[in-house]
Amino acid sequence: MTGMLSGGFRAALQTTTAARPHGGDGALLAVDDEPAITASIADQLHRRYHVLTAGSGEEALATLRSEKVSVILTDQRMPEMTGVDLLARVAEEVPDVTRLLVTGYSDIEAVIRAVNEGKVYYYLSKPWRPEVLEGLVRQAFEHNRLMEERRALVEELRQANTGLEAKVRERTAELVRSNKELEQFAYVVSHDLQEPLRMVSSYTQLLSRRYKGRLDANADEFIAYAVDGANRMQRLINDLLAYSRVGTGGKEFEPIDCMAVFDLALVNLRMAIQESGAVVEHHRLPIVMGDKLQFGQLLQNLIGNAIKYHGDEPPRVHVSAEQKGHEWVFSVRDNGIGIDPQYAERVFVIFQRLHTREEHAGTGIGLAICHKIVERHGGRIWVESQLGSGATFFFTIPIKS
Ligand SMILES: Nc1ncnc2c1ncn2[C@@H]1O[C@H](COP(=O)(O)OP(=O)(O)OP(=O)(O)O)[C@@H](O)[C@H]1O
Ligand SMILES: [Mg+2]
Repeated sequence: MTGMLSGGFRAALQTTTAARPHGGDGALLAVDDEPAITASIADQLHRRYHVLTAGSGEEALATLRSEKVSVILTDQRMPEMTGVDLLARVAEEVPDVTRLLVTGYSDIEAVIRAVNEGKVYYYLSKPWRPEVLEGLVRQAFEHNRLMEERRALVEELRQANTGLEAKVRERTAELVRSNKELEQFAYVVSHDLQEPLRMVSSYTQLLSRRYKGRLDANADEFIAYAVDGANRMQRLINDLLAYSRVGTGGKEFEPIDCMAVFDLALVNLRMAIQESGAVVEHHRLPIVMGDKLQFGQLLQNLIGNAIKYHGDEPPRVHVSAEQKGHEWVFSVRDNGIGIDPQYAERVFVIFQRLHTREEHAGTGIGLAICHKIVERHGGRIWVESQLGSGATFFFTIPIKS
């Protein structure tokens, strides 16, 4: 029983080997101007390989154009085209064929040169022993198969990569489209909401002016809430409008002197600086290409935050820029309350705040606008911080002429 099983197994193995009698997919092409030699090669190897023969270089090239050949074995000394010349043309025209040369000792110089130039994979000296020929051909087919596998892998990789690139391009286009739609939506909504909101706000203010103390205490309180709510909504809508204008209302890029922009930001932040006793310093700042107004807004929002979120010490803010590769890396460093790293991304999302209105005034639009401005300029923005030990905001601006 066991014997039968193992016999069956062996038979199955043999069939598999028999299904691939030629080692690789293609044939062995033997080239020699003496028919007796090609005949003897064919005779020796036809059981393992599909053997084709040719009597000259031209004939061999013709065969290569019409048949799938994995390995070519050619004699060096032939009347019209030498073996080295033939293999040089094979290397040009059908580079995937593995090239073997048969040579006498007198040709050794030519062979060495051809091997060094990569035209010959290996050579066989005459007269050869049958097992040497067989071993060499087997090795050549193995080499050919490995090369083919490598080509297939490279091709597979290339295709996967192309597919991936196409997918990324597609997704990016989708994202751009959906961002545009969102922007449009934000703009329309905030624009259209302004009018009815103005009405609510002015009538509640009128109510409060005219009827304060004339109704009961509850009514006064309710009216105050309504006025406060309407005002807050007005601020939110203005912020939303400002946010949506970053993409649509931007100016052409021009050279910006960052020093001048920095000075202007400090003028605008004068009150906050005086109240907090802040010291705001800067290193040499470069000239960059961008939208001047937006760039100013970016610096002002970051410096403004650095002042606003100070700790017990008076705020110290340092602004600097460093060239790294093809971009400027700006940083705005403070000694304030810092940010828990888990919120490092959330702070850039519109209306996301880590503080209540009672703790610090604001709607949570500043960093969202910064993010959008930096994105529009082709850069990135991020924060590095630990709770309680200051924060450094970084952003990059590509260097363009
Ligand atoms: N330099 C900083 N140090 C510590 N926390 C900061 C700093 N900058 C921003 N944050 C945190 O990130 C949140 C979002 O900041 P962002 O500037 O977007 O909004 P905001 O300052 O709260 O309001 P707005 O800028 O609209 O007035 C802030 O509420 C604050 O919690
Ligand atoms: Mg802010």
